[in-house]
Formats: sequence, structure tokens, C-alpha cells
Amino acid sequence: MGKIGKSAAFFAAVITACVSFGSVAEATAQTSYTASMTYEKGVLKTDNAPFDALIYHASYDDNGVVQEVRKLEVKAEQETEAKKGDRFFLWSGMLPLCVPVEVSETAREPKKDTIVVYFSFQGSTKKLAESIVSVTDADIWQIVPEEPYGNENLNYYDSSTRSYIEQNTPSMRPKFTGSLDNVADYDTVILGYPIWYGKAPRIILTFLEAYKDDLDGKTIIPFCTSGSSGISGSLSEIRSAASKSTVKDGFRGTASMAESDIKAQLANNGYTVK
Ligand SMILES: Cc1cc2nc3c(=O)[nH]c(=O)nc-3n(C[C@H](O)[C@H](O)[C@H](O)COP(=O)(O)O)c2cc1C
Repeated sequence: MGKIGKSAAFFAAVITACVSFGSVAEATAQTSYTASMTYEKGVLKTDNAPFDALIYHASYDDNGVVQEVRKLEVKAEQETEAKKGDRFFLWSGMLPLCVPVEVSETAREPKKDTIVVYFSFQGSTKKLAESIVSVTDADIWQIVPEEPYGNENLNYYDSSTRSYIEQNTPSMRPKFTGSLDNVADYDTVILGYPIWYGKAPRIILTFLEAYKDDLDGKTIIPFCTSGSSGISGSLSEIRSAASKSTVKDGFRGTASMAESDIKAQLANNGYTVK
């Protein structure tokens, strides 16, 4: 909406008068009315607003004169831009339903488009995952097994160990703890794991199958650490578990991989570090 006209100027004057009663809150406003509003980091939240409520967003010049008034939908939560000093009013007709909210800070958490998700047993993949984060400034999430792997799994040749049995039983899907709620917000998942018997640990497949729909249309860049095996033997299982995503060929790295090498490997996988 552009500059306000005459009638809107009157309305704005009413708003300003209401504000001048000294009831402007820092960031959260609540009166004895049950309705309330908060504005934090670009998100306006409204609670208990009656059906006929209206929200007005007023912005001001340096002298405190109203410059613009916008009408917003009344929603429980909505993203909306505002400058420091702007105010939101929740009204029904000419009656304020709660004290106005004054915007005291607007810095919104920048949304990241990449997340590094990894599983690590002995710590090498974890180190590489952290180096990738320092290169890409991505978010990070560790896949933590519900039942931790014990050191007996370090004896690769012992066919009675859990890792041996899992890796040799294609249907096994070890559970992980917690959940990654916002995975659909990312465009790219950089997915790390140690090579176990030539493949990705089965818990990686558990993760991919759990989030298959969220990862629809997203790009997955696998990476691994290993004693000597390459990543290629792990890709077919990864691709069938993440059948809705584009799975790149990925790369093998080390715990002490140089940042320039990480950048080069990401570039080989079509990912440009910003
Ligand atoms: C159960 C198990 C199986 C492994 N199988 C292989 C393998 O097939 N090829 C290989 O090069 N390294 C293999 N390794 C070595 C790991 O891939 C390597 O040590 C890796 O860097 C460990 O990563 P992490 O420290 O993140 O757990 C295996 C290790 C374990 C524990």
C-alpha cells in the first residue's frame, strides 16, 4: 500500500493517539483481554483473536508520523516484514483488543538451504561433517542410533557382531533417536557415513526411508570415510532408499580433509559454496 490518504490519515491519527497512551509493549503485548499478539524475528503470532478481529500494521517516519497502514489477515502465526519501531494493532471495529506490539528487533534467522546429516561410529565422519559445515555454513544433524554400537563392532571379521549381521541382512533398519522436523525446508542434504562392508550402514537407509517424502525433489550429496573403499559401492542402496531425490555420485573424504578439497568435491557434485 502506498502513502495514506486523508481518511486513512485520520485513522492513523487514531492509532497514534492510542499508542500515545503509553501502552506500547516492547515485543509482547497482553492486557486483561484474552487476545494477544507477539512479533519476533519476522513472525507475527496472534492468540485468542475473535472472528471479527483485524490486524493493522503501521509504520512511521523518524518524527513518529504514520507513513503507512496495512491491513493483515488474522492468523495464529504469519511471516511478515516489519521495520524497527513499526507497530501492530489488533482491533475489533474501533476497539483495541490488546495493547499494540512495537517491533523492537527484526533480525530474522536466515533460512539455510543445506543441511549436513551424518552417522559416525568412530568419529572420522563426524570430523569431516563438521569441516563440510564450516565450508558451507550448512545446518547439521547427527543420526544417533537408538541402540549404540559397541566396540565389538570394530572387529569387522567377527560374523556374530551386530554391524556384520545388519550389513549382511538387507531388510534390517536400525532405529535412530529423535527426528528432523524441518528436512523439507532444505534443497540439499549432504549425507555422510562410514563405509561398512563396502556399503552405507543400514541406519542411513532407515533415515532416507523415513524422510523419503520430505526429500522429494531434493538433492542428496553422499560422502563417506573409509579404510580404503570408495563411495560407489554404497550408492545403489542409497538411490533406492531415496528414490524421490536426486542422488549425486558423492565423494570419499577423510577426517582431516582440507577445505579446498571439500570445496572441489562439492563442486564436482554440482554444489557451489556461496
Ligand atoms: C563394521 C565396520 C566395517 C567396515 N568396513 C569397511 C569396508 O568395507 N571398507 C573400508 O574401507 N573400511 C571399512 N571400515 C572402516 C571404516 O569405514 C572407517 O574406519 C571409517 O572412517 C570410520 O568412520 P567413523 O569414524 O565415522 O565411524 C569398516 C569399519 C567398521 C567398524
